[in-house]
Amino acid sequence: MGLTLFIVCLWVALVLGQLPPEIEKCEAGDSICVAETITRILRLFPKGLSSIGLEALESISFEDVVVSQIEPGDPATLDLRFHNLTVRGFADATVAEAKGFDAELPRVLELSGWIPLLKLDGFYEMHGSLLTMPIQGKGHALVEIKECRFRCKLRALEQLRGDGGRYAEIAKVKCLLDVQGIHLNFENLFDNPELSHAMNDVANAKWLEIWHTLRKGITSAVDRLVESILNKVTSKLSYDDFYRV
Ligand SMILES: *[C@@H]1O[C@H](CO)[C@@H](O)[C@H](O)[C@H]1NC(C)=O
Repeated sequence: MGLTLFIVCLWVALVLGQLPPEIEKCEAGDSICVAETITRILRLFPKGLSSIGLEALESISFEDVVVSQIEPGDPATLDLRFHNLTVRGFADATVAEAKGFDAELPRVLELSGWIPLLKLDGFYEMHGSLLTMPIQGKGHALVEIKECRFRCKLRALEQLRGDGGRYAEIAKVKCLLDVQGIHLNFENLFDNPELSHAMNDVANAKWLEIWHTLRKGITSAVDRLVESILNKVTSKLSYDDFYRV
């Protein structure tokens, strides 16, 4: 009997997430504290924190990311995909505002803030037209996104578990993104170094138009990423354990 109890306690301690002692918990409803605490977790644990299910955010790797796709009935004129892609910079995010982090889980939570610099690095393939010019290429690409401001609405569902804990499930994420600058370098456009160089120069001069073209695809990729990151945390760390009791 004693052994069973010991094993149960050990299991509970290993499976249930707890915030580490260096993170001071907030009172439920203290939205300023919640925003600061989330930012502090990102700063202190850029390589992730497995005890609360947080993945490493300083560098995230993806495979097969479709940024834009030509489809019938859709205005998109460009097929752009990354066979592989590494994104650096999410861990430098500052959460400036957190809404809805009350004692009772509301249906919608909101997080907003900014990321000073995102660096994307990967192997791309594209064809179609961009800035009304035909374009095609395949090779290495580097993209820097400066000062990305985000406002993400999170649709939350409450889950009661056998342990009595209340957990949040993030059912849907919808972000709005805005950026202050983009610098692109797509190698090997048109299989021609000079043309490639010229096209990158044009694209960088007209980065805002490029952003408007790609914003939808980038935003939906970010929605899915934020949803997956948050669900790993909320499935481990109960809603009540996030707050001071
Ligand atoms: C990405 O894909 C390219 C082409 O297949 C390959 O040369 C490169 O090593 C890959 N990079 C990573 C980080 O997997």
